[in-house]
Amino acid sequence: MIRVAICGGDELRSSCVALGLEESSAPRVVLADLRYPGAAEQAASYPPAVPRILIARPEQAACFAALGATTSRLTASADPATIGPLIVELVPNPARERTRVVTLTAARGGVGRTLCAANLARRLAAFGSVLALDATGTGALAWWLGVDARPWSELEVLAAELRAEHLELVATPVAPRLTLIGGAPAVPSLEALIATISVARTLADLVVVDAPPLADHRAQACAARSDRVLVLSYADAASSAALGAAALPESAWLIGSQAAIDGAFRVLPRDERAIGDALEQRGPTGGALGRAYDELAELLAIDAS
Ligand SMILES: Nc1ncnc2c1ncn2[C@@H]1O[C@H](COP(=O)(O)OP(=O)(O)O)[C@@H](O)[C@H]1O
Ligand SMILES: [Mg+2]
Repeated sequence: MIRVAICGGDELRSSCVALGLEESSAPRVVLADLRYPGAAEQAASYPPAVPRILIARPEQAACFAALGATTSRLTASADPATIGPLIVELVPNPARERTRVVTLTAARGGVGRTLCAANLARRLAAFGSVLALDATGTGALAWWLGVDARPWSELEVLAAELRAEHLELVATPVAPRLTLIGGAPAVPSLEALIATISVARTLADLVVVDAPPLADHRAQACAARSDRVLVLSYADAASSAALGAAALPESAWLIGSQAAIDGAFRVLPRDERAIGDALEQRGPTGGALGRAYDELAELLAIDAS
């Protein structure tokens, strides 16, 4: 976790929680929301050598510009999507510092988990080595990543004594720094899945798991072994009811699929055209949806430090 000083109000504080930043009196970055009384005085108490990110009103920003000071770390918003990328610039290669497991799940099927997992895995490979795991037994993640994955059955016999060498043999290379485990035609046993996740941590900087819906005990097992869980959901009443009834993991980021939902951390816009293009090439999704995946990947990379 990146240690930060939080000088500001509730908005900045909740952004820091969303980004998984750790409040510290020995920060690597000072975050100061100058719109908030007392924030400037508090920020000034930290050593000058510690880099700053300042959230300022236009008239406050104009004062810095008048001084001739660099305004590259000055922003108008304390939103995680705004301050997150600024922190990534200040603290390079965050994903390398600690292996993280990210699980994608949902209260119901068909919400865009696999598409999101494939796109995040491709993008996160820019920050560090990524192992994508398809825990659904459908082979859909491999399809979107443009490769053929070896079936889970190849790992089943090894589950009790699984080692890194086994995973390396079974993993399919997808792109530089991106490999994939888990193909059709059967779901992995709970034992094989748990063993794979724990060994995967020793092989990659980031592990991205495409998991079944939360009602499946495999999804719960993945969530329990993850540092971050993304729960995708549609906005319709049946989906909201399913979400309300589901056992949501503690570290869940609720992601609205194709529409905003209550308590959503982010929303993935509906973008059939971008998906149509991606389907043709079995490639990454662009367009507005692609930009939303970019932003989510950046937030996960920060979260991984
Ligand atoms: N943002 C989106 N806009 C439009 N269609 C989407 C979006 N996300 C997913 N879909 C469509 O929803 C369907 C299910 O997606 P998929 O990733 O396979 O879901 P899951 O893995 O949750 O079952 C796919 O046909 C996909 O094209
Ligand atoms: Mg799927």
